[in-house]
Amino acid sequence: MLKEPSKKYRPFPPVHLPDRQWPNRTLTRAPRWCSVDLRDGNQALAIPMNISQKLELFHALVKCGFKEIEVGFPSANNTEFTFNRRLIEERRAPEDVWLQVLVQAREDLIERTFESLVGARKAIIHLYNSTSPAQRRVVFGMSKAQIVQVAVRGARMIKDRLPQLQGTEVMLQYSPESFSATEVEFAKEISEAVMDVWQPTPERKMILNLPDTVEVAMPNVYADQIEWICRHIRNRESLIISLHTHNDRDTGTAATELGLLAGADRVEGTLFGNGERTGNLDLVTVALNLYMHGIDPKLDFSNLNAIRQVYERCTGMSVPPRQPYAGELVFTAFSGSHQDAIRKGLNEWKEKHHTSNLEPRTSNEVAYWDVPYLTLDPADIGRQYREVIRVNAQSGKGGVAYLLESEFGIELPKELQREFGPIANNEVDRLGREVSGAELKAMFWREYIERTAPWQLLGFETESRNGVVRCRARLLRDGKPVELAGEGNGPLAALVHGFSQAGVPRFEISSYSEHALSAGEEASAIAYIQIKHKDGRTRWGAGVDTNIELASVRAVLSALNRG
Ligand code: KIV
Ligand code: ZN
Repeated sequence: MLKEPSKKYRPFPPVHLPDRQWPNRTLTRAPRWCSVDLRDGNQALAIPMNISQKLELFHALVKCGFKEIEVGFPSANNTEFTFNRRLIEERRAPEDVWLQVLVQAREDLIERTFESLVGARKAIIHLYNSTSPAQRRVVFGMSKAQIVQVAVRGARMIKDRLPQLQGTEVMLQYSPESFSATEVEFAKEISEAVMDVWQPTPERKMILNLPDTVEVAMPNVYADQIEWICRHIRNRESLIISLHTHNDRDTGTAATELGLLAGADRVEGTLFGNGERTGNLDLVTVALNLYMHGIDPKLDFSNLNAIRQVYERCTGMSVPPRQPYAGELVFTAFSGSHQDAIRKGLNEWKEKHHTSNLEPRTSNEVAYWDVPYLTLDPADIGRQYREVIRVNAQSGKGGVAYLLESEFGIELPKELQREFGPIANNEVDRLGREVSGAELKAMFWREYIERTAPWQLLGFETESRNGVVRCRARLLRDGKPVELAGEGNGPLAALVHGFSQAGVPRFEISSYSEHALSAGEEASAIAYIQIKHKDGRTRWGAGVDTNIELASVRAVLSALNRG
């Protein structure tokens, strides 16, 4: 990179608009939407879509609720032409959907475009030519007046051919391509020249699309450009002002949102931002940004995963994992503190509602979504909140316990958590990596459940008479058979008595708990026992068995085996 970039690059000149209005406005309703997936998106694919892929994507767009869909550049090649013909001849577009076609200001291209539209119910004919200083100088070598002439000639050619489309409701659209890099005064001049030909009225408006073809400035500058045009252009009420942003500076969404504040009525873009270079505006993001402010976006993304699948299948592109709303990971929390906050927020949200259909608790109480870290309810767009819980050497005992409980239903008593937490952390530290829930469970099993030395259980029977329980335990001690007999007011008391009878140093049971293990586990119950030795040492043990009495006997042996 250059040490002095200012010798090669310069800032984009701001628009003079000291009384700009857009910063004080808020968005209150959805714009008209136009999908350009099948044209701008398709143009930018390494392998453009074939007709069946385009058809599939077209139907998915219709299902989302798009009423204006740019279906292609029919004069560009046979596939584009045939696709448009199939949509029309096979009556694939619902009655309220406009098929938009793009064309340059050239007679042969305009002729072919009109041929492609015969029989359409509703069509938008989109004419464009490029207007920025660099395009005028480098690409066309034309003066401003000549560039205006190109647009006006194209507009006339289109107007003259309109009678060919009897029975088709036609709307006309003009784009001064590279608008955002064009002087606003010249953009106004050329747009008004086209308007002079097409003569739009408030009843028969034309679309004036003002593309941010290449993002050259910050989004506030684009907003100023849009507001400037909205305020200065003649006959504003006969225009539908449309935005078409790209993402070269990664602010296509911001530019569109500020452009809407600045007075635009319509937005062009693509699903997930597919398109030339860094892509077009991501329509899903802007629509769902409106939705999360309580504004009906008039597009339906209730099953965003399904739309994403169609998109990926048809275009061969993939949606990045962190893409707003649609990315694989955007509703996944990795951090413990985020997970905790989200869980609390979701619980509060559930409490606020009686039913899952979001009826407020009382008629005058409106409960708004206010869950930390989740801008909207993932369920609204067919997605699910997910937690990824992993334990590393820095994780607290709480993380270890949570993972065992959430994944395996193992509910460690608090004190046992304090004992096992550091044991697990040391092991994780030794491994030098994060561990999964299954690995943690294996550690717990090794530490508590699978200890068979010195004591191992072979058999345990009890009989009870007059409130006194007698037990007989057959055990191995360091591999040698041992039989114990004891009595007490319960099986565990009898077992402890049996050990002391056999000369094992005295100990007592200081804590006991048990619970069933979740279905699918190999055993049905787990017991946790803490023993206290004569010298004050305490040890936890755990035992698993289909029989709860045997699970607790095993837990006693586990605690003894742990020293
Ligand atoms: O980005 C652009 O300027 C375009 C025009 C053709 C509208 O795609
Ligand atoms: Zn574009």
